[in-house]
Amino acid sequence: MPSLEVIALIGGTGAEGLGLATRFAVAGRSVIIGSRQRERAEVAAEGIRAAVPGASARGLTNEEAAAAGGIIIVTVPYEAQVETLTALREAIGGKVVVDAVVPLKFERGVVSAVVLPEGSAAGQAAALLPQAKIAAAFHHLGAPKLMALPHDVECDVVVCADDSEAKAAAIELAACIPGCRGVDGGGLANASYVEAFTAVLIGMNRKYKTRTSVRITGI
Ligand SMILES: NC(=O)c1ccc[n+]([C@@H]2O[C@H](COP(=O)([O-])OP(=O)(O)OC[C@H]3O[C@@H](n4cnc5c(N)ncnc54)[C@H](OP(=O)(O)O)[C@@H]3O)[C@@H](O)[C@H]2O)c1
Repeated sequence: MPSLEVIALIGGTGAEGLGLATRFAVAGRSVIIGSRQRERAEVAAEGIRAAVPGASARGLTNEEAAAAGGIIIVTVPYEAQVETLTALREAIGGKVVVDAVVPLKFERGVVSAVVLPEGSAAGQAAALLPQAKIAAAFHHLGAPKLMALPHDVECDVVVCADDSEAKAAAIELAACIPGCRGVDGGGLANASYVEAFTAVLIGMNRKYKTRTSVRITGI
């Protein structure tokens, strides 16, 4: 079994996957960028190594990344999740999977949450990967903040999971990003509310012309 120190990002060439990978690399974790095209992944990994001296970052196909990673983070668009995870079921097996996917739609300038039959994107991932240990996290941590090195991100990451190992792993991952804290958000069923709240934040970003995120007080 690969080390939990090795984090594979499926769809890691996009803004969110690359941003998370860069922060994990800064924290000294080994990261693998996954892509449908190995060359794209290699270019993205090279960018991380250039931005973070001494970083352990490599680029592989999504399937190779899923097999080589100890923890798998899913950062593909929600429309691509079914096809992507179905193809990776065997490679992922019983690993911890952290799903950052937010099912949103944009219509006539209005953003809203997409209601999936499984309740949430993370619930869909759990249905697609019955052996895996699933957590939902990182929905409110936007890519621009992740890429704004060396600034702290100032965001709490609400983690929802039924599996205790997956929940602990996601909370620990959040904690290794400066300014970020992982907070236990309850079971995987709560992922539907956490994912959907992202639509509210995006609406606020537009209204206030800023980049909002979430802080939980009282803990
Ligand atoms: N952007 C944010 O600030 C943010 C914040 C929180 C959560 N999220 C969530 O994180 C996920 C990724 O966001 P993003 O902005 O990084 O998205 P993105 O750039 O649109 O997509 C990420 C990567 O997914 C792969 N991909 C795209 N279409 C695909 C398809 N049809 N089949 C398989 N792979 C495909 C692409 O990689 P290859 O072409 O290299 O395969 C792409 O680079 C989304 O679910 C989003 O809701 C985003």
